[in-house]
Amino acid sequence: MERNEFIKSLGLGIALVCTGSCLAGCGKKGDDPSPSTPGGGGVPAGTTASVDLGTQLLTVGASIVVSGILFIRTATGNATTSFAATQAVCPHQGGSLSFIQASNFIQCSLHASRYTTTGSILAQPNDGGTTSALRTYPLTLTGTTLSATA
Ligand code: FES
Repeated sequence: MERNEFIKSLGLGIALVCTGSCLAGCGKKGDDPSPSTPGGGGVPAGTTASVDLGTQLLTVGASIVVSGILFIRTATGNATTSFAATQAVCPHQGGSLSFIQASNFIQCSLHASRYTTTGSILAQPNDGGTTSALRTYPLTLTGTTLSATA
């Protein structure tokens, strides 16, 4: 083999090695936007959060976040069935969740995933990733104190 041919073949070999390394490091589409904590974003078990219905959640569609729990008034009357309680942090990548009263869904501020008030997924994140259903929490009512416990 001539010196020039050897150098050419050496250069081609290095180029192939570099290309292989770069492709392996890039991964496939959708790797990065996957949930960093699938099913995460919920509050620790045993956490209890409360609202005072004498001054909070007075109208249908009103919502408030207390201790990582999103409370939503879904109907009139002060019964536990008039409210929903879900995690307030998105299971996809930790965006904050808000109830959009006009559309009657919960939406993430980071990638716009959408959920029902019972936690079901209505729309996946707009970054190509996937999310999981929201955790919901059972409610109790004592006087005007509405509590949700994880
Ligand atoms: S953090 Fe990505 S959709 Fe919520």
